[in-house]
Amino acid sequence: MAAPPGPRGYPVVGVLPRIWRDPLAFFQEVAQECGGLARVGLGRFTLYLLSDPALIHKVLVEDSRHYWKGDGLAAASAVMGRGLATNEGEAWQAMRRLLQPAFQPRALEGLLQDLGATIEEQLEAWRPGPAVDVAEAANHLVLRALFRALFGAGLPPEQLARLGEAVLVANEHINHTAWSLIKLPSGVPTPRNLRFSRALRTLNEATYRLIRERRTLEDPGDDLLGRLVGTRDASGAALSDTQIRDELMTLIVAGHETTANALAWILHLLAAHPAIAEQVQAEAPAAQGATGPPDALGRVLLEALRVLPPAWVIVRTPYSERELGGYVLPKGAPLLISQYVVHRDPRWWEEPARFDPDRWLPGRAAPPRGAYFPYGDGPRICIGNHFATALLRFAVAGCLRRFELRPSAEGKVVPQPLTTLRPKGGLRLKLTRRASGSAQT
Ligand code: HEM
Repeated sequence: MAAPPGPRGYPVVGVLPRIWRDPLAFFQEVAQECGGLARVGLGRFTLYLLSDPALIHKVLVEDSRHYWKGDGLAAASAVMGRGLATNEGEAWQAMRRLLQPAFQPRALEGLLQDLGATIEEQLEAWRPGPAVDVAEAANHLVLRALFRALFGAGLPPEQLARLGEAVLVANEHINHTAWSLIKLPSGVPTPRNLRFSRALRTLNEATYRLIRERRTLEDPGDDLLGRLVGTRDASGAALSDTQIRDELMTLIVAGHETTANALAWILHLLAAHPAIAEQVQAEAPAAQGATGPPDALGRVLLEALRVLPPAWVIVRTPYSERELGGYVLPKGAPLLISQYVVHRDPRWWEEPARFDPDRWLPGRAAPPRGAYFPYGDGPRICIGNHFATALLRFAVAGCLRRFELRPSAEGKVVPQPLTTLRPKGGLRLKLTRRASGSAQT
């Protein structure tokens, strides 16, 4: 069996100049040039790009047991330990089974009221202006909302601020390490590594203390920490402090940047499409969302996660050599499955670059299976997807109730593909307070 085809490169340096210039455009071009499975040589390193929806479905869903996530998560594991996102095999499966019920829509209902109140509180602090950095504001809002869902209302503001700062430092470290070619071990005392060690210490001290405190209560509570403390495995044993700590860190790391960037991108798209924003606002969307076909806000969320997916790439690695789409995939080959590439492929989407929430109206042609997967697919699909949707609905509805959004005159918005797809250098919008609305100050 043959190796998959590869893209054209320059002599000696190969495709590196293309990838450095614009990685997103490069991967899109490779998918068009080489077809559903491509082999991309980068010096001594080779990666594979999978862009055929049917094969994506095969890898993520049907044959998922033949693949694991690979070594790329080492940086994130320094923070998340062996939580859901980084664990594999039976240990992962057992924990996923234990935690899954807490993330079902029905189980989340109890959390949602508090979540809504926290988001309203955060939005109250947003001020109108000609160039408000909504990426930064969204980062802050989502972090507070996550802390509320994880730890309840009891954390004093100074501690929240300290924890928030530590999470931001840890995220920057993960982003930096995951994408730098020269990997210095984190023991080397560079200023960045020292900052990271301090942040990790803060996070560990705080979480272990919160876990211990919670164990002393008769009722551990209904927030996610309380549920983790109350969880019993098949033998009736409670989770260890380390297991709970790893899952808490995982929920923060996996949930924060993804959801914050989703929120920033949604607001950006609504600012660029005021008529769509008005339609959403006119429907006065309920936080829970519609149970039937998606309402206007639901369609905006679906479409925003298509054109600007915060999780822009998933990586899988075969445990052993495998046949895929008529080609051979060597054992250990990093297989990149990019939401950004597939969600914008003209073969599966009409006018793929156009933000058009109406393509999600009932009766419109659905994309092929495997062509839309903002939250992944198969057994490892995002466990936080219902939570993220609820959070985004609260935040977008609350923001539209207060403000009219328009693009700012300041700067161009450029998506930067790091661990998540984020607006490079922030995202400034013009926020004008609405003449009427529930939140006049
Ligand atoms: C818009 C927001 C979000 C997006 C786009 C997103 C995207 C994803 C994707 C694509 C995966 C699968 C990764 C893979 O298969 O390799 C994933 C997994 C995961 N996500 Fe999310 N996520 C979001 C929000 C959240 C939130 C809010 C939480 C937690 C509260 C969360 C927790 C997790 C966890 C724990 C996993 C690992 C699940 C497992 O492997 O069993 N995510 N997410």
